[in-house]
Amino acid sequence: MLELVEKLYSTGDLSDGELAALIETDDKEATELLKEYADKTRQKSYGKKVFLRGLIEVSSYCKNNCLYCGIRRGNTEADRYRLSREDILKCCENGYELGFRTFVMQGGEDAFFTDEFLCPLISEIKAKYPDCAVTLSLGERSYESYKRLKEAGADRYLLRHEAAAQELYSKLHPEEMSLQNRKDCLFALRELGYQVGAGFMVGAPCQTTEHIIADLRFLQELQPQMIGIGPFVPHHKTPFADEKGGTLELTLRLLGILRLMFPKVLLPATTALGTIAPNGRELGLQTGCNVVMPNLSPVMVRKKYDLYDNKICTGEEAAECRGCLERRIESAGYEIAQERGDCIK
Ligand code: 5AD
Ligand code: FES
Repeated sequence: MLELVEKLYSTGDLSDGELAALIETDDKEATELLKEYADKTRQKSYGKKVFLRGLIEVSSYCKNNCLYCGIRRGNTEADRYRLSREDILKCCENGYELGFRTFVMQGGEDAFFTDEFLCPLISEIKAKYPDCAVTLSLGERSYESYKRLKEAGADRYLLRHEAAAQELYSKLHPEEMSLQNRKDCLFALRELGYQVGAGFMVGAPCQTTEHIIADLRFLQELQPQMIGIGPFVPHHKTPFADEKGGTLELTLRLLGILRLMFPKVLLPATTALGTIAPNGRELGLQTGCNVVMPNLSPVMVRKKYDLYDNKICTGEEAAECRGCLERRIESAGYEIAQERGDCIK
């Protein structure tokens, strides 16, 4: 197993069979070596820097019905909200003072967020904070829409592909959703000049090692600037309420593998990882991650952006995440970089 880690470290790739063996291993030494090489690789690319992304959860309305997600339209008990232009600008103001230089507007697929609403807002944020990046994470939209949002000033777009294998994608999504469309969106975003983020959940119901390998191969084809992965965490008001969640061990192993396969990618230690283990994000940072995404949403709505159970960072104090993360990042041996944090070439 150690040879596989050595090979992945020196060549950046493995065969499907070798990847499967590494994904499934419980060899402690190999796991330790993977962590060491992942950290070495991230330090070669980014030193000890950790980039912050202020996450603004703009809407909990969603027209989709993904089986895993707490804000799926079928969850009639979900508390719905959407932020106004003023709310969003206030979050940016607050975030800028806290030192964030990237604002991520993330939400369900909410028809209220038209191009007519978003374009002037994006331009306004870019004009007010020219040293900041604006990232959108608003799901599948038309090519034309992505184009207009880019022209209005959006820099980046996060759209997890969720599952690159058709078989798994179909088990996680209702029939009306299309994996091909999702992939087309990602390639369109890339073509339009966005810095693109894709990704998937670890330990989703029915996910096999082969499915994960399909995800890794898709990521190799797409070559995104960012890769977001986190454990699947069941939500009690979804069809997957009684399913098992993804594990810390497998998520960390995949983070390490991703870092070695994509030495320069931006890799967040996700909120979901911090949800399944108190020190999950710190361990993520020590296994190749170089981004954290503190919650910048107004305190009033935080509990309503309820993707999965027991989500952390829904506390009462708006600035809490910033201070909390600073301590966590430093305790893990890294330092916050007060900059946009673009992907290095
Ligand atoms: N557990 C973990 N992650 C989830 N997401 C949605 N629902 C869950 C869940 N139950 C992730 C999806 C989505 C991102 C915003 O949150 O991968 O792309
Ligand atoms: Fe949000 Fe710690 S990072 S409360």
